Parts: sequence; C-alpha cells; structure tokens
Amino acid sequence: MTQPILVTGGAGYIGSHTVLELLKAGHPVTVLDNLSNANPEALARVQELAGREVAFCRADVRDRAALDGLFRAQPIHAVIHFAGLKAVGESTGQPLRYYQNNVAGTLTLLEAMEAAGCRNLVFSSSATVYGDPAALPITEDMPLSATNPYGQSKLIIEDICRDLAKADPRWHLALLRYFNPVGAHPSGRIGEDPLGTPNNLMPYLLQVASGRRPHLSIFGRDYPTPDGTGIRDYIHVMDLARGHLAALKALPELPGATAINLGTGRGCSVLELVAAMEVATGFPIPRQFAPRRPGDIASCYADCGSAERLLDWRATQDQGDMCRDAWSWQRLNPDGYRSQLTKGML
Ligand code: NAD
Ligand code: UD1
Repeated sequence: MTQPILVTGGAGYIGSHTVLELLKAGHPVTVLDNLSNANPEALARVQELAGREVAFCRADVRDRAALDGLFRAQPIHAVIHFAGLKAVGESTGQPLRYYQNNVAGTLTLLEAMEAAGCRNLVFSSSATVYGDPAALPITEDMPLSATNPYGQSKLIIEDICRDLAKADPRWHLALLRYFNPVGAHPSGRIGEDPLGTPNNLMPYLLQVASGRRPHLSIFGRDYPTPDGTGIRDYIHVMDLARGHLAALKALPELPGATAINLGTGRGCSVLELVAAMEVATGFPIPRQFAPRRPGDIASCYADCGSAERLLDWRATQDQGDMCRDAWSWQRLNPDGYRSQLTKGML
C-alpha cells in the first residue's frame, strides 16, 4: 500500500495525525492547506516523527489551478479531504463563509479529481449530521438533519457525494462520520492547537488543568443521563487516523458513497472525562456547574458495526489513554505550536 495520497487540510489537527500514519505506512503524501487554521510547525514535526518528508502546497482547496498542478505532478491514488471550517457557533454568524469554504471547496476538489481521473475520496463528515438522534447507539441509516450551517455543509457535501456515486460507478467515496476526536500523538509533539478560547470540552479542560483558566464550566447537570451531564463518544485521534488508513485500504470494495461512523461505541459523561483527566494529571480539576449550552443534546454515541465490518477497524484506546496523551501534548506545548519551533523542516 504505497500509493501517493493527497491530503487537503493535512496541517490541521486530525490531518497532521493522519499524515503521520500515512508516512509511516510508506505512502508518498502531498498536503494542500491554506493554513487558515493551522501552523506549518505541525507538518515539520510530523516529518521529524516519521523520518520522511511531506510535499506541502500552501493553497486553498478552491484554487482549481493549484489542484490541477498537483494532479499533473504525479498520479494521485486517492484524496483524504479534511480541509474545512468547523466552528459551529461561528457558522451560525457567517453562513456564507461556511458554505463557500466547505461546499464550494469540495465541489472544486471533486471537479479537479474527475478531470484527473482520480475517483477515490475519503471525506471528513461528522456525527453532527444525525442532529438530535432518535435512538442510541447511532447507526448510519438513522435520519439526518442539521441545526446549523456547519452541519448543513456536511450534509450537503454528503448528498453531493451520493449523487456523484449514483451518476458514475467508478467513484468510491467513504463518508467518515467522526464522533468526538480528542487526544494527541503519544510523543506529545503534535496535538490540537485551538486559537482563542476553546469551545470544546477537551481543549478547555486542558487549559484548566494547566492553570490557564480558573475552572471548567460544566454545561448542564439535569440531562437524562446517569450523572446528569452530557454523554459523548470521545475517540482518540490516533485511532481516528488509523481509521482513515483502513478506509483507504477498503475503498475499492466500498460501493459508491458509503457513510461510516468512527467512534468507540462507548458513551462518556462530562464528569467521567473530568475524572479521567484528574487521574492523568494527578491533581483535581476545578469545575462549576452552569446552565445547559443552547443546542446541546443529552447523549450521542456510535454503533461501530459498519466500521468493523467494512473497514476491519475498531478503536483501541480508552478515556485514560486520551487524557494521558492530551495532557502530554499540553504540558510539553503550553502555547501549542507557538511554544517552540523546529527550524528548517519545511
Ligand atoms: P482543523 O481546523 O484543525 O483542520 C482543518 C484544516 O483545513 C486546517 O489546517 C485549515 O487550515 C485547513 N483549511 C480550512 N479551509 C481550507 C481551504 N479552503 N483550503 C485549504 N485548507 C483549508 O480541523 P480538524 O479538527 O482537524 O478537522 C478536520 C475535518 O474534520 C474538518 O472537515 C472538520 O469539519 C471535520 N470534523 C472535525 C471534528 C472535530 O471535532 N475536530 C469532528 C467531526 C468532523
Ligand atoms: C461539538 C460540535 C459538533 C461536532 C462535535 C465533534 C459544538 C456546539 N458542536 O459538539 O458539531 O460534531 O463537537 O467534535 O461545538 N461541555 C462542557 N463544558 C465546556 C465544553 C463542553 O460541559 O466548556 C460539554 C458539552 O455540553 C457536551 C460535552 O461537553 O456535553 C462535549 O462538548 P463538545 O466538546 O463541545 O462537543 P459536542 O457538544 O459533541
């Protein structure tokens, strides 16, 4: 398995971990990223960890000429498409920017792939496409809905992929619906580096643990869950990265556009994740209960049967592993990639 792979958004959080696994598996990798939400230091460290080089193109995925140039430069076997904007709250205030970046970006990419005869795509979808799920665990055939432009952009892209597969059987598209990716590479060299105040639980928790913020606000203690706090399916980013390699391998056997959940199948409450972080850090995490966050659902976790059957993949790491690795990353890089630069790698 050493075909050349193009990774859009490969300098970002999930992309950088996946690029590392691709390099370790022997793939030549080209990353296209406009660095709108990434630091090139991430790829420098990926190269250092892999002991191999990545070809990097700083460009927007909507730049058709840049894409054509990459496809001309070498025969790309498949594209893993991470590039996109992902902040739910921001998408509500800036819907046009989200549809332009995410939907128009994917359309441009698919057109360039079609023109180049590369018809293998692994796409970053999200569990957000299930809206407020009617039943748990969530299976891929459950009804889809969106409550914000970010989620709607994922649904529109999924629909485009399904239409494309119907129109031309030569396309193979894996629509990977991630649950809640957290954690970092066990080296602590690469991880999630959010700009500004984090919206999501794990990065916020890490900043509280490191003393950068006084306490965690736990949004809601009256959900219909065993301890009253929200339940999610947190998945270690290294498991997720491996899921992409499994999807690449299985792609020729997948019929058309296939949606596949990537999670652990286990729900974890906010209080359980806080407790796991206390074990990882060795000290108590200050927390306060706060009102529910508008738009939040009580519980969300995956049925991972399709991933096991179709990709021969399952998550192997638990909350303890996720917190241990996330904490190593935070401790070693208190200011993210701004903490320390690896010179001369890119
Ligand atoms: P990220 O922001 O760290 O990575 C996205 C990368 O894409 C960044 O490096 C950014 O610079 C780049 N990018 C954005 N728009 C671009 C454009 N127009 N052209 C070129 N590059 C562009 O986010 P992530 O957490 O790694 O997420 C990757 C993908 O997975 C996204 O599509 C996201 O919606 C999806 N996803 C993420 C989560 C999550 O919780 N992190 C959950 C479900 C789905
Ligand atoms: C977020 C995204 C969702 C995306 C998912 C996957 C939002 C609104 N939704 O949802 O679209 O698919 O990530 O990564 O951003 N919590 C606290 N305190 C905090 C932060 C969060 O108690 O400071 C709680 C939340 O109420 C929730 C849980 O922690 O119960 C997880 O929250 P978060 O990390 O934001 O993820 P999602 O809500 O699943």
